[in-house]
Amino acid sequence: MALLKRKLKYLVTVMMINLFIFVLISRNSGQDKNGLDKLRIPSKVFWAKLVPSSAYWNHQQQILDIQNSPILLRNLSSADLPDWLNDTALTSDLCQPNFRVTTQVKDYNTLPHRFKDFLLYMRCRSYPITRDVPEICKEQPFLLLAVKSLAPHFDRRQAIRQSWGRAGVIANKTVVTVFLLGNATSVDHHPDLSEMMHYESSHHKDIIQWDFRDSFFNLTVKEVLFLEWIQAHCSGAQFIFKGDDDVFVNTHRILDFLKGLSEPKAKDLFVGDVITNAGPHRDKKVKYFIPESMYIGTYPPYAGGGGYLYSGDIAARLHNMSHHVALYPIDDVYTGMCLRKLGLGPKKHKGFRTFNIEEKYRLNPCAYKSLMLVHPRTPQEMIQIWSWLSRPDLSCQ
Ligand SMILES: *[C@@H]1O[C@H](CO)[C@@H](O)[C@H](O)[C@H]1NC(C)=O
Ligand SMILES: *[C@@H]1O[C@H](CO)[C@@H](O)[C@H](O)[C@H]1NC(C)=O
Ligand SMILES: *[C@@H]1O[C@H](CO)[C@@H](O)[C@H](O)[C@H]1NC(C)=O
Ligand SMILES: *[C@@H]1O[C@H](CO)[C@@H](O)[C@H](O)[C@H]1NC(C)=O
Ligand SMILES: *[C@@H]1O[C@H](CO)[C@@H](O)[C@H](O)[C@H]1NC(C)=O
Ligand SMILES: *[C@@H]1O[C@H](CO)[C@@H](O)[C@H](O)[C@H]1NC(C)=O
Repeated sequence: MALLKRKLKYLVTVMMINLFIFVLISRNSGQDKNGLDKLRIPSKVFWAKLVPSSAYWNHQQQILDIQNSPILLRNLSSADLPDWLNDTALTSDLCQPNFRVTTQVKDYNTLPHRFKDFLLYMRCRSYPITRDVPEICKEQPFLLLAVKSLAPHFDRRQAIRQSWGRAGVIANKTVVTVFLLGNATSVDHHPDLSEMMHYESSHHKDIIQWDFRDSFFNLTVKEVLFLEWIQAHCSGAQFIFKGDDDVFVNTHRILDFLKGLSEPKAKDLFVGDVITNAGPHRDKKVKYFIPESMYIGTYPPYAGGGGYLYSGDIAARLHNMSHHVALYPIDDVYTGMCLRKLGLGPKKHKGFRTFNIEEKYRLNPCAYKSLMLVHPRTPQEMIQIWSWLSRPDLSCQ
């Protein structure tokens, strides 16, 4: 009996609390006397007003975003656009130096030369191709190996041809190797190597070269030109590896990995040594320094440019999207930006070691067996490691 009373008391208390809450809520729910819901009209606009970014890259990207937004642009004429979006220079010859940057970037005059060069030519994406191998993918490769190289690096290219970049049929799959070069010019005090380049390219037929200055900040130009080249001459490649000429790549391991992928996974493949939660370096002494007048914000996840692996399908999508992303001076970050705009992200694979492996394992053949990429390696090291991995009697647990 006492138990029932206590239970009843408890029930009544709960009901009272509920009633209290109900009254509280209905008093605040904005109903008028007739019990109808009042339409609440916000006193301020609920969307953020688009204000021009103070950083030059971000600002250029805002312009591109507007230009490529069919919803926003459909009913706008250029006269309706606010001044800052009406960049008339965008319609002139994009490969002429854009001297407006000298006043648009507030600290232009005090920036290091490489930034001035980059900014003046930031809108130019087309350069003449001076050496090409348009037929190299006639037999559609399973794997296209593309190596970013610099004209004087003859020994690195030769070591790659003799080791991990040997083209042909490997493990029953067609592998094609190409080297991606710009112009090593006298502006950068490079000797004239054009005759040696001519010999190398006619002998090996694996050099693609464009006529732009081959500098660190122009690697993004190399990237967009390569994406263009893939669509023009190698769109049948199932997978693409793109990397530097100072890495060791375990091609056997990559082929095994790719052969084991299921169909949906293969289509969206983009793997490498992924860097997340990074942002621009603000220390002037760092190679990757970017001033605030150039870029603000964090970086999207990106795969380190030492080497990454992706599908031919992604290559086509990246190529399309690259037209909608302003060039950024750091090529691997730029590719991360394009991926993010596609709604994709690179996947980390622990076989990609762009920051090397522990020193005590570097001379151990078995350490390389399960890896896909190790950076950095000299030409001699590439050949040595390749010969270790090719030994039929190499046994590792
Ligand atoms: C906006 O654009 C659409 C499609 O181009 C057109 O049908 C419509 O008439 C336009 N509206 C105005 C107000 O111009
Ligand atoms: C935008 O640029 C065009 C020329 O391309 C010019 O005719 C127009 O007046 C400009 N509009 C504004 C608002 O500055
Ligand atoms: C090699 O590839 C071809 C075509 O993809 C296939 O028909 C053949 O069975 C493969 N051979 C081996 C040994 O895997
Ligand atoms: C490319 O390099 C060659 C050889 O050094 C040179 O003759 C040519 O002028 C360069 N092209 C450009 C656009 O600088
Ligand atoms: C990129 O290449 C173009 C064409 O050679 C050159 O004008 C520009 O200065 C280069 N940019 C950088 C940052 O080196
Ligand atoms: C790339 O863009 C072209 C032209 O707009 C389109 O036909 C094609 O389907 C696009 N390809 C991909 C992979 O998005």
